[in-house]
Amino acid sequence: MLVPEIKTRNPVHAVGDRLVALADLPPSGVVEVETARFGTLAVGMAGDRPFAVSNVCRHQFAKLGQGQIRDGCLECPWHRARYDVETGEMVSGPKGRIFGFPPYSKTIQGYTNGAFRLRRRAVDVRDGAIWLRS
Ligand code: FES
Repeated sequence: MLVPEIKTRNPVHAVGDRLVALADLPPSGVVEVETARFGTLAVGMAGDRPFAVSNVCRHQFAKLGQGQIRDGCLECPWHRARYDVETGEMVSGPKGRIFGFPPYSKTIQGYTNGAFRLRRRAVDVRDGAIWLRS
C-alpha cells in the first residue's frame, strides 16, 4: 500500500533500537517514535504486550501514535477505528455520525483486513524500555 509520508511534530526519538522507556509512555499507552530503520512508528503497551506498528490509520491516515489503548486495542484518534496490535487487524471500523454508517464502516474494515493490515515490528521489553528486536 502506498501511504503518504506523515510527519509528526513531537515524536520521541529512538536511540538505536531502544524506542521508548516504559516510564515515558503517556497515559494513552501509545506514543509516536521516530526510528532510523522504520520511520515513525506507533509504540506502546496494550496491557502487558509491547508493540510497534505503522503510525498511519488505514481509514484517513490519522497518526495512530496519537491515539489510545482501549480494551486492549489501539484506537485511532480521529474516528476511533480499533486495531489488534498483534495481528495488525482492524477489529472495528470507523465510528461517528458519518463514518460509523454500518455498511461504510464494515467496508473499510474489510478492505483494511484484506490487504492493508497495520505493519508490525517485533519488539521486546528490557531494561525498562521497549526495544526493536534485531
Ligand atoms: S482516520 Fe482512523 S478511523 Fe478515521
